[in-house]
Amino acid sequence: MGNTACCQTEAIDGSEPPVDAKPILDSTSPGNTLAGGDTEQERLYEVTLVKTDGSKLGLDVDYMAERKVLPIMHVTGGVAEEWNRRNPMKKMHSGDCILEVNGITGNVAEILEKCKADSVLNMKLCRCLTYEYLLEDLEKLIRHKNCGPILIRLSWHDAGVFNGVDGCPNAAMRLKDSAEHKMDANAGLPQIALSLLGPIAAKYVPRLISHADLWVVAANVAIKTMGGPTITTRYGRVDALSASESASSASGRLPEADKDEHHLRSIFHPKGFEDKEIVALCGAHSVGSCHLERSGYDGAWTDNKLKFDNSYFKDLLHKQWQEETNSKGKKQFRCGSAMMLPSDMALLKDPSLKRYVLEFAEDENLWFSEFGKAWIRLQEAGCQELRDIL
Ligand code: HEM
Repeated sequence: MGNTACCQTEAIDGSEPPVDAKPILDSTSPGNTLAGGDTEQERLYEVTLVKTDGSKLGLDVDYMAERKVLPIMHVTGGVAEEWNRRNPMKKMHSGDCILEVNGITGNVAEILEKCKADSVLNMKLCRCLTYEYLLEDLEKLIRHKNCGPILIRLSWHDAGVFNGVDGCPNAAMRLKDSAEHKMDANAGLPQIALSLLGPIAAKYVPRLISHADLWVVAANVAIKTMGGPTITTRYGRVDALSASESASSASGRLPEADKDEHHLRSIFHPKGFEDKEIVALCGAHSVGSCHLERSGYDGAWTDNKLKFDNSYFKDLLHKQWQEETNSKGKKQFRCGSAMMLPSDMALLKDPSLKRYVLEFAEDENLWFSEFGKAWIRLQEAGCQELRDIL
């Protein structure tokens, strides 16, 4: 999982940091409780550290200029350890983040300067606010609510409005008056997917991550949690702040399920995808299902809708699909309890597309690799100045 490149570990006193900086994970909490607590009240705490002459602060932090917060790597003694001894209820832990020092917030360079220069430090901190905790919280949510598929779809539709010119992933869908929020293709996504992500967004956005980065990280965790490849996408997507930043129009951006291979190409080619990548991306229908009340289609593609494997391609090739008209009057294909959309069947009709269905059905590792490459391109298309670490 991403974020492996190293940030700059700063011992605020200039002393050497210890080697192991893994946070203490909240493995005891039940269900999908967030690490550090569900409410702001549980997570936020205040600390006052007073440095007397020559005393060392005793905090190693994970400094990176692009961040808004300073994650604590270690409490290494000094004034910080003294505080921890005297204030067991407000103990500073590795993995907590410094949000504010003496009124300075949102600028880590200035926060760091304050820590070094001032002798009295009034700090606001948040528990368990690092990238590792974010991954933990997402994985817990996905396992607890079985919501991996809709999180993948949320992220694909955020990135999928890119048409080669505009519409890069910017989480505009969360803004009620945006085009993305109202698009038929996104029915159910803002209401359901965003409610699921709500508590995690409240904890991490914007302190650690943007909404748009959160959505893609959530999808990456979902893919991995459901048995798929480990995919690392870069960070730095900028959130839309108003509906004026939403896609200029809905037309021609997201694929329609009742259409054929010509339509698929007309949608995916402007985004920069060729036949192999179109087929690879469609394999994501190995997970999740269609909902009558959202898209008007009904049913799951594969027997295990929570397993990210190549069964979509195998089933597409080997099952006997019968055309049916569902209760919403839409044409789809059925075999037992499984279904395929007309757009899925289009992958079989066209020899150039079918070639890749055959290859991916035969070789799951090949599909994982091609899916991973196409997914990264999808998620980074049109984005400016992405970076390797959060
Ligand atoms: C090729 C054209 C595509 C069409 C026409 C299409 C269409 C659809 C439709 C109609 C649904 C059902 C939505 C609902 O009723 O809740 C759906 C679900 C889904 N799609 Fe696609 N899709 C396409 C490509 C993709 C791609 C490229 C991905 C990801 C890489 C993807 C991922 C998903 C997932 C994971 C779900 C399940 C969502 C859930 O269970 O809530 N789809 N898609």
